[in-house]
Amino acid sequence: MPPGGGASLHGSLRDRHDRYRPLTAAPMATPMILAEGVSCVYGAREKDALAMMRAGESRASILDRTGTVIALNDVGLRVDEGELVVVMGLSGSGKSTLLRCLNRLVTPARGSIQVAGQEVMAMGTRELREFRRRTFGMVFQHFALFPHRTVLENVEFGLEVQGVARAARRRSAETALDLVGLAGWEGKRLGQLSGGMKQRAGLARALAADASILLMDEAFSALDPLIRRDMQGELVALQRRLRKTIVFVSHDLDEAIALGGRIALMMDGAIVQDGTAESILAAPATPYVERFVEHIDVSGVLRVGTLADRAAAPPPGRDGGPRAFLRADMTLREALPLLASEPDGLPVLDAAGCHAGVLWRTAALSALARRPHNEEPAWTSPSPASRSMTYATAPSTG
Ligand SMILES: Nc1ncnc2c1ncn2[C@@H]1O[C@H](COP(=O)(O)OP(=O)(O)O)[C@@H](O)[C@H]1O
Ligand SMILES: [Mg+2]
Repeated sequence: MPPGGGASLHGSLRDRHDRYRPLTAAPMATPMILAEGVSCVYGAREKDALAMMRAGESRASILDRTGTVIALNDVGLRVDEGELVVVMGLSGSGKSTLLRCLNRLVTPARGSIQVAGQEVMAMGTRELREFRRRTFGMVFQHFALFPHRTVLENVEFGLEVQGVARAARRRSAETALDLVGLAGWEGKRLGQLSGGMKQRAGLARALAADASILLMDEAFSALDPLIRRDMQGELVALQRRLRKTIVFVSHDLDEAIALGGRIALMMDGAIVQDGTAESILAAPATPYVERFVEHIDVSGVLRVGTLADRAAAPPPGRDGGPRAFLRADMTLREALPLLASEPDGLPVLDAAGCHAGVLWRTAALSALARRPHNEEPAWTSPSPASRSMTYATAPSTG
């Protein structure tokens, strides 16, 4: 048995994950967003700070000696068209800065940012303003809407600024309001709406302009938990229909998982891991990431296909009758009710309806218990890595 229960679980899941490639789509040819080598500092001594950073000095020490914050350190990010990527990390890790660099609301000290093949770093002020307006819709935690205007006027605002004719902007605004479930609310003053409704209006405003990229910074973080969960679900549903390119910033791992896209995990101004929730869980790149994912509910992340015993033949059905089966892309959580009434396991079908193995009850339970199938409990040999690690501070709002 490999040393350390946690590490061996990750190892065993990684193997399974690697074998289960068909579920992940091949990356498309031209990325919608391609940021490379992006470094960004706040403070007067930019050159000194960057030199010290290259020499390997810590952010804290650089801040101490120069009063300059390294907000991003050599960050790379690729987002394909129609993809939703969550930039996730604790408060202060650099998420908002990265988001703002993408449309150059903040100009990085170093690096290249290409959006739909165009170099954003090379744009002049006027070109940039026009490009920003055409290409990006933004949604923030605090709504940035006008409380005394009506819902419709708020949603139309961006189009009005762009000089779109009245009838056309009304049509776009009404379509967008319909998309976010606010049809019928057009005439209400925005100030009369609840937080969740305001955030819908904010989303509608971003959608109305029909920008190809949505940048969302902690867009749901100020909402009550239940409303927040609703909004996450609705964004996922909207995304299924609209296939926008979305970069969503969140400090909340559960939210990142619920949104279902790729996750770029940030720490101290750098991306420490970038992948699906499942791949990050299966193989945390650093002890920090391992700690970060330690408390998440794996049942909502792990897929049946990853846990299936791919070599096993389909178990015979009871009494020869038709039997339940699982789909490879189901989460473990979705599979559990079906698995609960089976003595051993259930056959798994892939997207084409072909046999893709068997999910054994024992394997499902082992995954839930976060220990490798057929191995001793993790607590008999604590991983040296987790013993020597200090706890990360709990995520805080912001
Ligand atoms: N305008 C600013 N001036 C100085 N420091 C800033 C400014 N904005 C952000 N920072 C600092 O840059 C780092 C990254 O901040 P930010 O991108 O806002 O992180 P996050 O969105 O992950 O909370 C933090 O240390 C923050 O204090
Ligand atoms: Mg932020």
